[in-house]
Amino acid sequence: MAMAAASYLSSASAILLYAALFFAGAHAEAKPTEVVTSEVPSTLPVCKTVGGGSTFFDVQFCVEALGSDGRSANAGTNYGAYSVIATDLLTANATSTATKIDGLLRERGGKGDEATTTRCLRSCRALYGGVVKRQISCAAAVRGRSGGEATRCLETAASAAKECEEGFRKSKVASPVTMENDDAFKLAKLAVALLSWAH
Ligand SMILES: *[C@@H]1O[C@H](CO)[C@@H](O)[C@H](O)[C@H]1NC(C)=O
Repeated sequence: MAMAAASYLSSASAILLYAALFFAGAHAEAKPTEVVTSEVPSTLPVCKTVGGGSTFFDVQFCVEALGSDGRSANAGTNYGAYSVIATDLLTANATSTATKIDGLLRERGGKGDEATTTRCLRSCRALYGGVVKRQISCAAAVRGRSGGEATRCLETAASAAKECEEGFRKSKVASPVTMENDDAFKLAKLAVALLSWAH
């Protein structure tokens, strides 16, 4: 509930931000109440480039994700550096999702129709375990700009997140990790897009 409200608020403030950017233009004379929302994120040009035409994530997701890492403040228009940041965010996400799934599995007994959810969660845990395990070499590939290998492992991570979510959908039970799957999928796709611009 609190998280939903927080994410609603953060979406709302991002919408205000874009409204301010598009309508106020360059001569935004910020009124005292608009000081925060009229600040242009340094990642905006990069995020417009990679997110503008993406079907996987939008500009807002990119700005919020990269903005959550302090290194972005000094990355300028270095797409390679941003790709490393997105990859590291993906590692943190996948690790915490694996931990969350461990907790959910510990809570449930696996009785009745809950057994279906348990089975899906086990499959997701294996998928995320694989992602976490591969992220060390994946991040090294992104840092070393080994394009082919980096893209492959990031796409594998995106597929794992998608497969986890699809497992619940196919079994017709509610997914307790929809948000996590969505974030991991988008972060992986973001890292791929950023990497493709890094030259
Ligand atoms: C996962 O990624 C999303 C999107 O960048 C972010 O909002 C969230 O805080 C991340 N969670 C963790 C645990 O890193």
